Amino acid sequence: MHKDWYKIEGGKRLEGTAIISGAKNASVAIIPAAIMSGECCILENLPHIQDVSTLETILRQIGAEVDFTSGDCMRIDSTHITSTSVVSEEVAEMRASYYLLGALLARFHECDLALPGGCVIGKRPIDQHIKGMRALGAEIQVDEEHNILHARARKLVGTEIFFDMVSVGATINVMLAATMAEGTTVLSNVAKEPHVVDVANFLNMMGASVKGAGTDTIRIKGKPRLHGCGYSVIPDQIETGTFMIAAAATRGDVIIKNVIPTHMEAVSAKLMESGATVIEGDDGRDFYIHVIMKDKPRPVSIKTLVYPGFPTDLQQPMMAYLSTAAGVSTITETIFESRFNHVKELRRMGASISIRDNMYAKVKGVNSLHGADIYASDLRAGAALIIAGLMANGTTKVHNIEFIDRGYEYFDRKLMAIGASIERMHV
Ligand code: UD1
Repeated sequence: MHKDWYKIEGGKRLEGTAIISGAKNASVAIIPAAIMSGECCILENLPHIQDVSTLETILRQIGAEVDFTSGDCMRIDSTHITSTSVVSEEVAEMRASYYLLGALLARFHECDLALPGGCVIGKRPIDQHIKGMRALGAEIQVDEEHNILHARARKLVGTEIFFDMVSVGATINVMLAATMAEGTTVLSNVAKEPHVVDVANFLNMMGASVKGAGTDTIRIKGKPRLHGCGYSVIPDQIETGTFMIAAAATRGDVIIKNVIPTHMEAVSAKLMESGATVIEGDDGRDFYIHVIMKDKPRPVSIKTLVYPGFPTDLQQPMMAYLSTAAGVSTITETIFESRFNHVKELRRMGASISIRDNMYAKVKGVNSLHGADIYASDLRAGAALIIAGLMANGTTKVHNIEFIDRGYEYFDRKLMAIGASIERMHV
């Protein structure tokens, strides 16, 4: 099969203003959660990305009416859901479809779910999601032969759940299910990522009682019924970071708008440590972050951590940036067990990177990268390779860009608008 690819002429300094879209990771949870209302929800600031289109298709398959034709605004009417079985090809394709489990269990007490796909960056089990649903009273059976999970509950009853590890997906999924359970649920050792808070805010707008999102403990008082609402999704933390890193990587000068600067502290701190100027501001309409870089970056050490630590989703773009730093940087990946698939592609461009135990990377800065034919292995690896292409001398061809389409809205157009030479080649 022939697929689109990006052609990048590197070496251009990025300059100008980039506008950040709504958060992918919040959107892919809030869209399924909207069906819990049983009414109509209007969601604003949603990104036009593949994962959102896929969810649109899945919701239609189960009987929701979905309209996403007016800008960044989606109308979801879930009054007449006709099925709790989500087993189509589309479901298996995207990882975040697992949020349909929490949403359908909450409203209908049943769900059949094709086990999730998504980016291949390690084992990514969903045992904590299952543990949480079972604790709330659901019976869960996994049909491994057909890769389908069956969940049924006579009713869901609130309880205390301590997660074995901090998981964004499990925190949100179990939060969804507990929102309509009988009594109170207390979730401990939960994820504190901005999109966890955003989903909790959305649930509360639908009439739920969710408190403590953004801390280690979330307390949920179950409500038998929710209602429709309007809600605007937060800006994308990872897209913001990607543009911040791209600006620094091209020795650029970029103002990034529609951002929440407090979500970016770990990234700003590392960019500043590497020698970039990062200024946060408010122009009266929007918060913005202004990134200016004049010199070769200084090497830095990065360790990926749960929020508010350095996000794993920006580890790969950051590695591209550090590949031409003046010295040796170290990167420790603690969240996913196999998130270095981009390294061999960066090496093809002249980077000097060694890996130990699939967890530690030593990035020895080289003078410059050179253009090459490279292949994205997952969404954020794709972003890293685009940044490397923008930094490199000569022409880079980035393949497998369908991974990038999953999570970045108009990536090429936004980069072109600030001076990048990038062209989507259609085949
Ligand atoms: C979410 C984000 C993804 C980000 C990741 C970490 C979405 C749609 N995706 O993914 O962009 O990279 O958070 O910030 O929001 N784990 C288990 N058992 C479980 C669940 C998770 O062992 O039941 C492990 C995972 O394998 C991984 C770690 O916990 O090693 C963190 O995963 P998790 O936070 O759940 O990531 P996702 O929700 O998949």
